[in-house]
Amino acid sequence: MGTQQRIVSGMRPTGKLHIGHYHGVLENWIKIQDSFDCFFFVADWHSLTTEYDNTAGIRTSIHEMVLDWIGFGLDPAKSVIFRQSLVPHHSELNLILSMITPVSWLERNPTYKEMLDNLAAKDLSTFGFLGYPVLMAADIILYKATRVPVGHDQLPHLEITREIARRFNYLYGNVFPEPEAFLTETPKLLGLDGRKMSKSYGNSIYLSDTAEETTKKVLSMMTDPARIRRSDPGDPDVCVAFNLHRIYVPQEKLDEIIPACRNAAIGCVECKKILAECMNERLAPCRSKRAELATRPDFVNDLLQDGSRRASEISDAVMTEVREALKI
Ligand code: TRP
Ligand code: SF4
Repeated sequence: MGTQQRIVSGMRPTGKLHIGHYHGVLENWIKIQDSFDCFFFVADWHSLTTEYDNTAGIRTSIHEMVLDWIGFGLDPAKSVIFRQSLVPHHSELNLILSMITPVSWLERNPTYKEMLDNLAAKDLSTFGFLGYPVLMAADIILYKATRVPVGHDQLPHLEITREIARRFNYLYGNVFPEPEAFLTETPKLLGLDGRKMSKSYGNSIYLSDTAEETTKKVLSMMTDPARIRRSDPGDPDVCVAFNLHRIYVPQEKLDEIIPACRNAAIGCVECKKILAECMNERLAPCRSKRAELATRPDFVNDLLQDGSRRASEISDAVMTEVREALKI
């Protein structure tokens, strides 16, 4: 076990997860927990960087997200699953790292500039928002992580993490490994309206949706925009619904649907009914597990308390080393 890679990754609590989150991130977490020493956490302090003026929903969001995690297969017997704000060492290390991080590194960060533009309606001229990557570096190196599963959008942040770890080691002695990205090939899922699936667009299918809700959404989903009449031939390559067929419908069935679509032998309603059935069949076991967990009022809190205790045992030892290295 000593040579095993240590994995750390977090998600900001944004509420219940949609299938895009699942196939983009969660499914990968679930897969790697069998082969690595994994720490997965709820990044609730990070959500304050943009939601500091709207904290009312955070607790519910954490609850819903963790039910999705466990219902769909993240396993507290295999991974340490915890909540950032229950392990105050994140904050102590964040403070220390903030002392050695040049402001210019943070201002140069492309994700920072992009988010400032995207969220122009919000006042993000805060110390905490600029320091987002410092807190993220603390999250990661606090456990001496060697690999961090992230999407492409997080690469600049991870690069800053590596620079901060290097700088710490240079100033105070070698304490931290430089964590490497563990890039996950994320299929970009399209939502019902053909835009990227996103909570804010209202175009999502949620892991926790019922089979009926799923079917209704799938039937309302855009198809090939050029296929107006039932007698028009279609093209699966430009069909919005078909991006989900590729994930959920077995290959033999796809081999029938593709030619049938191209020569108008199948209608979109029938085709989407097949999709909805396959989705519901595949999601059913996890959905019912999630529903069962949701009936247990203390389940999520107990799980996060317990995981946070386990995380603290590791972070406590690392912080002792950090204070020693700093001579403080
Ligand atoms: N920044 C990540 C995101 O928005 C969340 C996050 C916070 C994270 N701390 C982390 C991810 C540490 C990986 C490792 O998705
Ligand atoms: Fe899309 Fe199926 Fe309609 Fe073809 S038949 S356009 S694949 S929904």
